[in-house]
Amino acid sequence: MASAVMSLRRAAAAAVACVLALGAAAQLTPMFYDGSCPSLQSIVRSGMAAAVQQEPRMGASILRLFFHDCFVQGCDASVLLDDSPTLTGEKNAGPNANSLRGYEVIDSIKSQVEAACPGVVSCADILALAARDGVNLLSGPTWAVPLGRRDTRTASQAAANSNLPSPSSSAAALVSAFASKGLDSRDLVALSGAHTVGSARCASFRSRVYNDSNINAGFAAKRRQICQPQAGATDGNLAPLDALSPVRFDNGYFRNVVSQFGLLHSDQELFGGGQVDGVTAQYARNGAAHARDFVTAMIKMGNISPLTGSSGEIRANCRKPN
Ligand code: HEM
Repeated sequence: MASAVMSLRRAAAAAVACVLALGAAAQLTPMFYDGSCPSLQSIVRSGMAAAVQQEPRMGASILRLFFHDCFVQGCDASVLLDDSPTLTGEKNAGPNANSLRGYEVIDSIKSQVEAACPGVVSCADILALAARDGVNLLSGPTWAVPLGRRDTRTASQAAANSNLPSPSSSAAALVSAFASKGLDSRDLVALSGAHTVGSARCASFRSRVYNDSNINAGFAAKRRQICQPQAGATDGNLAPLDALSPVRFDNGYFRNVVSQFGLLHSDQELFGGGQVDGVTAQYARNGAAHARDFVTAMIKMGNISPLTGSSGEIRANCRKPN
């Protein structure tokens, strides 16, 4: 009897600790729109299915859009705001200009969601669901996305320039950029596995293929063919981040990185004699472990500083505040 009381007490204490640890994130729930917009998930899914069928890379582009949203002011759809006379958005920040894509896909899904459930679903939540569906449509895992985010009325180009990690970052800089968002080094490596899909521009990998020594020589030579050493005409030429399977969400990225086929300097930093080598090697051996940790880390990233309750608004048009 005494031990039953003790274990009940322990369970109650653990539940309280859990709620405290989750803090604001505990307010998001996958059931948030079940009553107010029951068709939401199927609208997002079919919008993403059409976009990915037309261009498989779009699954990758929308996933990146979500990352660039969450790392700047939290997952509040700040990245979707256009520049206007009264607002400087994030679309022209260094990491985003001529690079982020997929805004039209979110616009089109949003207008279908507005037709079904006017004024109910935030752009931030649509982006979170669309990113999950993009991953799954490219043969990656799926998961229940916690929902209930609201949209910001502001954006920060300065924060986009300073909070998003650069492809020239060292492992230590990557670990610290993620730590400042509450993500640990395992989350960093798991999320970097997103580079198993999509492409990068020559401007992003030039320095890697001309200056790095920890790169497969044949691979570097091949990439140099489409990327001239000086900035200019070839800046926008694209190469797949995972040449093994560019539109398949698998662990090919990690198998590349352990063999010195990482396309970005920052990719190769995840296997360069530093503190995260062990996790990178584990994911290269075990795709299921990566898929599991990727889901955990995506949910954590999706919990970065959401606006909830009466903060922010439900935008009518994802490109501008109401
Ligand atoms: C770890 C730090 C990261 C750095 C330094 C980084 C940097 C980059 C760069 C430079 C590109 C190519 C952009 C271009 O050349 O236009 C890129 C593409 C991409 N990134 Fe990252 N990234 C990081 C983490 C992430 C995370 C956490 C995700 C998502 C969870 C992500 C998803 C993607 C995707 C899917 C693409 C391809 C997009 C497309 O094809 O449109 N990245 N990233």
